[in-house]
Amino acid sequence: MLSNVLLKAINEQINKEFYSSYLYLAMSAHFEEVNLPGFAKWMKLQADEEQEHGMKFYAHLLERGAKVELMPIAGPLIEGKSNLEIFKQVQTHEAAVTASINALYDLALKEKDYPAQIMLQWFITEQVEEEKNAADIVAQLDMIQDKGTAVLMLDHQLGHRGKE
Ligand code: FEO
Repeated sequence: MLSNVLLKAINEQINKEFYSSYLYLAMSAHFEEVNLPGFAKWMKLQADEEQEHGMKFYAHLLERGAKVELMPIAGPLIEGKSNLEIFKQVQTHEAAVTASINALYDLALKEKDYPAQIMLQWFITEQVEEEKNAADIVAQLDMIQDKGTAVLMLDHQLGHRGKE
């Protein structure tokens, strides 16, 4: 049986994953507006992945006969204007998600909830990749400083996400 405290925290995590999806979808729409289809595609795939993350937690609760509680999703807020600022926001956001997953794992250890620990190990590995992906793009944008040709090249590269 999932403890109430862990159940509440997992339901909150479902909300955080869906908020992440909403945030990246808003960023995807922004990049469509500014004619960077590769950046937009990268963000759309990221938004889809976040939905999958939310659904993994959702499935875990149902498999264990626990109650899924879907809460309202806040409006997404894009904080910066430049490509670099937007990807820095992704990086900061992913670091916050990692902290949240780690806190869930701590709680699962405290509650001696072994199935939740195993489920969360997937997310711990995934967050390493999520943070690396964001950091790599921030580093590239930092290097090119919104120079037109280089931005277009990066846009082309990001448009290949999912084709590797
Ligand atoms: Fe669901 Fe980007 O972590």
